[in-house]
Formats: sequence, structure tokens, C-alpha cells
Amino acid sequence: MRLFSLLSLPIWLVSTLPAITTASDASPPHLTPLKYANTSTLLNVAYYEAGPSNGSAVILVHGFPYSIDAFASVVPLLTEQGYRVIVPYLRGYGETSFLHPYTPRSAEQAALGSDLIALMDAIHVDKAIFAGYDWGTVVVNVAAAVWPERCNGHVAANSYLIQNRSTAWVPLDPDSEALRWYYYVFLTARGAAGLASDPKGWARSLWQKNSIGWNFTEAYLDLTATAFENPDYVDIVLNFYRNRLLYAPGDPAYADLAARLDAQPSISVRSVTFDPDNSVVFPPTNGTATAKYFTGPRCHFELPGVGENVPYQAPETFANAIFAVDDLPLKGGHYVCPQSL
Ligand SMILES: *[C@@H]1O[C@H](CO)[C@@H](O)[C@H](O)[C@H]1NC(C)=O
Ligand SMILES: *[C@@H]1O[C@H](CO)[C@@H](O)[C@H](O)[C@H]1NC(C)=O
Ligand SMILES: *[C@@H]1O[C@H](CO)[C@@H](O)[C@H](O)[C@H]1NC(C)=O
Ligand SMILES: *[C@@H]1O[C@H](CO)[C@@H](O)[C@H](O)[C@H]1NC(C)=O
Ligand SMILES: *[C@@H]1O[C@H](CO)[C@@H](O)[C@H](O)[C@H]1NC(C)=O
Repeated sequence: MRLFSLLSLPIWLVSTLPAITTASDASPPHLTPLKYANTSTLLNVAYYEAGPSNGSAVILVHGFPYSIDAFASVVPLLTEQGYRVIVPYLRGYGETSFLHPYTPRSAEQAALGSDLIALMDAIHVDKAIFAGYDWGTVVVNVAAAVWPERCNGHVAANSYLIQNRSTAWVPLDPDSEALRWYYYVFLTARGAAGLASDPKGWARSLWQKNSIGWNFTEAYLDLTATAFENPDYVDIVLNFYRNRLLYAPGDPAYADLAARLDAQPSISVRSVTFDPDNSVVFPPTNGTATAKYFTGPRCHFELPGVGENVPYQAPETFANAIFAVDDLPLKGGHYVCPQSL
């Protein structure tokens, strides 16, 4: 926007202006230093934490192929308002590591949701607002649905992504299937070899294809790609898609929870959901089709001009969603949703 307004200035004036700080600068904001916690799900979870230790907790959950740095500009907006903010790397990403070599590298929805609660247990956080996008939506959906007593509010892009495995082979229309091309490539040995040899190239391709008009910088891609250097990254990414398409079994340790999730449990805690308009794989909706999954207060929004990586592309909007959920009543009763985020 600022760049556009510059274009209307005379050339001689532009050349005398000081350098403008834009997203193309060399160092995009980076969440560091990290903390570490061992969990009952047998991970050493690397996470960033900021804000007052007695503040109301918010846990921010990233997606694929992204990293915790997607939230770098969201975190200060929350800490300024007194929130304690926790931003974990998912299993397979960044410095989060498996404690044991033989733990199945499962990325099934039951495992990812369990990791969030296990991290809360490990760092003694009783209750938090959960907010996520992409894979992070799966995580916060599962954690909020199954452990409502741990959830003080739920914020999710694309509303509800808990899967009933019985529907895994029910096709969408051809155009929607084509947008999911990478799910199917990841079923193959060729896809596995490709992701292993060039994880950054895959991220670039997916960022370009999955968000309309997103002019991300090479510096932000470079920063994010450091999260793909994890030795379990490829296994975890492949397993996420293979498990959802029934080409990889789940970890038996989560069999009971996995079966429970097949029933697509409803989310009873207060929720704010949104669909970014420039997201390709999950096109924007008005939220009515997913209303049946929300039994508590819920507000839904469409986000114009925003792509899949909502916290990075629209940090104020993402933070506003958290403030909005915190304004909703905990149970039912009267509430009014804001006009927009
Ligand atoms: C996590 O567990 C590992 C292996 O048992 C141990 O070496 C490490 O010190 C633990 N880390 C924390 C933060 O407790
Ligand atoms: C947190 O602790 C600070 C310093 O003791 C205090 O001023 C503040 O009111 C506390 N905040 C909450 C939410 O309890
Ligand atoms: C991204 O860059 C293209 C080409 O420079 C431009 O046409 C487009 O408006 C930009 N999009 C955004 C969202 O800034
Ligand atoms: C999952 O979906 C199938 C097919 O629509 C349905 O028959 C089944 O009842 C669902 N499973 C559960 C546990 O709700
Ligand atoms: C929401 O979208 C659905 C499907 O596109 C449509 O049938 C419905 O009328 C819309 N509802 C509202 C309240 O706009």
C-alpha cells in the first residue's frame, strides 16, 4: 500500500526519501530464544514464550509448510494486552524432537492434538486460548473438542477440519481434487524423494499456489525453511497426508482417541472462526456449513485480501480474533459478534 502511494510522487522526491522498512527487508521478525519441554507424548517440544507469566495464556499453532515465525508480528500485539503467549513448533518442525527413535512418526490428528495438551501439562498451563491455521486448525480443533476444560477460547482458520476417516475416500469435484495435487504426490516414493531433496522449493511452490496474490519475500521463505531442517520433517509431512487418505495407519497409542475423532466431536467452547478469501485449497465460506460443529458461542468472518498464512499476512486481524473470542461469553447466553475483525 505504501509503495503504491509512493508511485504517485514525483521521481525527484522519491529519490530523496529515506529507505522505507518493508517486508522485503533482509531480516523478517524471528521468534527467539526458544524454550524446551519434554512431554508425555514423548517429544522435546521447542517453543517460544512471551508476555507476563501470570497473564491469560494463548497458544498459537502454525501450519504446513510454515513455522512459528508466522506469528512473529502477532505475539507483540497480544503481549501488549497482557497475554502470556506460547508458540510451539509442531512435531517434525524446527527444534521439536522425538525423545525416542522408535516412537512412530505419526502426524495423525489425534497425535497432533494430544501434543498440545501434553505441552500444557509439561509447562503447567491449566487453561489457554488455542488459535491455529492450516495444520494448526486440526490441532486446536482436536484439543478444544476433546479437552474443553483446558480451553479458554478457540480460534481457527477454516473453522473445522477434524476428519471422519470413513469419508477419506469420498472424492470432491475434479477442480477441488486438482488443488490437492500435493496430497497425492506425497503418497508416492517420488513425492517423498522430492520433499526430502528440496523442502524449501516445495514450500515456495505451495505458497505460490495456495494463496492468491501473496508477495512473500525470499528472506521470509529462507527463515521459514530453517524449520524444515528437522530430521523428522519429511516423515511427519508425508504421514499427515498419508494418514488422512488412509495410506498410513495411525500410532496404536492414539487408537482410542482416533476412533473418538471419527465421530467429529463438536466444539463447545467459545469460538472465533474465519476463512481467508485468497486461500485456494479451502475456499471462503460464510460459516453456515460448519455451524453444526459449534455448540457454544461462535462468530465467523471472511477475511478479504488474506491468503492461507493468516497470522503472517494479517497479524492485526489474527490478534483481533483472539481479542474477539476473549470477549465472548464462556457459555451460551446473549452475545453480539463484531462486524469484522
Ligand atoms: C528431556 O529429556 C531428555 C532425555 O531424557 C533429557 O536429556 C533432557 O534434559 C530433558 N529436557 C528437559 C527440558 O527436561
Ligand atoms: C500479574 O502480576 C503483576 C505484577 O505482580 C500485576 O501487576 C498484575 O496485575 C498481574 N496480572 C494478573 C492478570 O494477575
Ligand atoms: C504482488 O505483486 C504483483 C506484481 O508485482 C502485483 O501486481 C500485486 O498487486 C501484488 N499483490 C499484493 C497483494 O500486493
Ligand atoms: C463417519 O462417516 C460415515 C460415512 O458418512 C458414517 O456412516 C459414520 O457414522 C461416521 N462415523 C462416526 C463415528 O460418526
Ligand atoms: C451461506 O452460504 C451458503 C452456501 O453458499 C448459502 O446457501 C447460504 O444462503 C449462505 N447463508 C447466508 C446467511 O448468507
